[in-house]
Amino acid sequence: MSEPITSPCPIDRNAVAPSRSGFFTACLMAVGVVAGYGLGLWNFLQYLVPLRRHTPRREMFVGTLDDIKVGSSIMVKDPRGEEIALARVTDDRDNPAVGFKALSSTCPHLGCRVHWDAGRGEFLCPCHNGVFDKNGIAVSGPPAKEKKNLSTFEVRVNRENGWVSIMVTGKGDYGV
Ligand code: FES
Repeated sequence: MSEPITSPCPIDRNAVAPSRSGFFTACLMAVGVVAGYGLGLWNFLQYLVPLRRHTPRREMFVGTLDDIKVGSSIMVKDPRGEEIALARVTDDRDNPAVGFKALSSTCPHLGCRVHWDAGRGEFLCPCHNGVFDKNGIAVSGPPAKEKKNLSTFEVRVNRENGWVSIMVTGKGDYGV
């Protein structure tokens, strides 16, 4: 027996052509799916690699070289209300800023207020006996176990007028 003869043309002449509204509906669904997955992917990538948020950093004027003598320290508050201990530990005439240490007074363990013990030459946290050296490095207690040091702040000195300032973050009217 011989095979039935079939047409070589692939077009099915009996197929129903898609309607215009069906086509637009399919397009809208495709756009919605792509947008949904794209947004999900964007959020996932941000979770993996958080974007750096720009935090304003400004100079906060705290005094002059004459106000803060070598061996003395003062407490100042940054715009967020965080207390900073500023100590002038040495007198460096070539670069006065390196003679200063500015450290957060907030203990990195559970947030208690640390204080400077001049006799011991260390910062002490009364809550759980945390101890930090003069550079804010945790040397004993829970902060040392967790390797959590006091936060440090950059100190700048204007050599022309002797103004001392600390670089802080946050908004507000607080300096030069
Ligand atoms: S809060 Fe400072 S040692 Fe625990």
